[in-house]
Amino acid sequence: MSKMLEETRQQPEALTKTLEGGLRAIFDLRHHLEQHRPRMIIMVARGTSDNAAQFGRYLIEITTRIPVSLAAPSILTLYESPLDLQDVLVVGISQSGESTDTNAVLADARERGATTVGITNEPGSTMAKLVEYALLIYAGGEKSVAATKTYTCQLLTLYLLAYALSGDVQLDDLRRVPEWVDGALRLEEDIEDLAERYFFMTRAVTVGRGLNYANALEFGLKLMETCYVVAERFSAADLMHGPIALVERAFPVFVFAPGGVTWPSISAVLDRLRELKAETLIFTDESNAAARSKAARLIQLPAQFKNEIEDLYSPIPYIVPAQLFAAHLASIKGLNADSPRTLSKITRTM
Ligand code: F6R
Repeated sequence: MSKMLEETRQQPEALTKTLEGGLRAIFDLRHHLEQHRPRMIIMVARGTSDNAAQFGRYLIEITTRIPVSLAAPSILTLYESPLDLQDVLVVGISQSGESTDTNAVLADARERGATTVGITNEPGSTMAKLVEYALLIYAGGEKSVAATKTYTCQLLTLYLLAYALSGDVQLDDLRRVPEWVDGALRLEEDIEDLAERYFFMTRAVTVGRGLNYANALEFGLKLMETCYVVAERFSAADLMHGPIALVERAFPVFVFAPGGVTWPSISAVLDRLRELKAETLIFTDESNAAARSKAARLIQLPAQFKNEIEDLYSPIPYIVPAQLFAAHLASIKGLNADSPRTLSKITRTM
């Protein structure tokens, strides 16, 4: 069995530990942010961690109304044009804590007087040492090059960050996340069977909207690095502004489709995909009955979400079947998901 699969299955425990550890650290930061409320937030990260940052952007804007932007590290590292970071909170996210340009942006931000937060799995890392507030995740060592459990633990920690910013996030709901992920993991056998159908897949499109856009980015990345599938990744809205033209009969499209505010947009995309006779696979949950009426294959999480929160808390459980799909497809294709060709666990870019 691949380490990627093993680590995917470890998520309920990793999330429980991350929540316990996060709750020990978060009140100190909350106190600081009550005294120094930022006028804006900048996130900086690479790869999977950058996908987590995309989620953080939506989550924090929705729950706190503070504008959030994603840093372009080259503005500092190549163009040497540091920004005015007065009253800005800069948040770095990195599994290893060693991504060089992420750390360069954080170091510059700290020098310029911004509040700096680092979300990392490595307490002894460069990132943990250089930020004012280190928010550790407790995923345990991640051996597979393809990140899985660290992504969901980063997402969980971003909920805690939203809470520290006095955002509308309920700690009691966060306590239920590991149980939702457990429900998702129980779908593994069905997902393995389904993945067989995709043995010949070499290209695909992944789609999400709002909070689940990050999952479309992350699933696409997993398909690229572990299965060598050329995966283009879109928000449901952006897909309609041009890329839909590449979808033809039997073209594989993967759609994250929780109920709630994003459903009308997703539903319209699904109708268009049906007209185009695309090969569509929907990630949804049993409470979204409307998804079942769409002519597409479904992976349905058990209906455990309270209706009013399903969209807000859906991203962590929703990525789990996609991780399982990628890990199984890699093994069906005879590929080693743990060490993709030409990749290593830490990538240093400037
Ligand atoms: C994910 C992956 C990479 C890393 C990226 C960032 O599966 O292979 O995209 O996520 O190199 O690494 P960290 O989070 O250590 O900064």
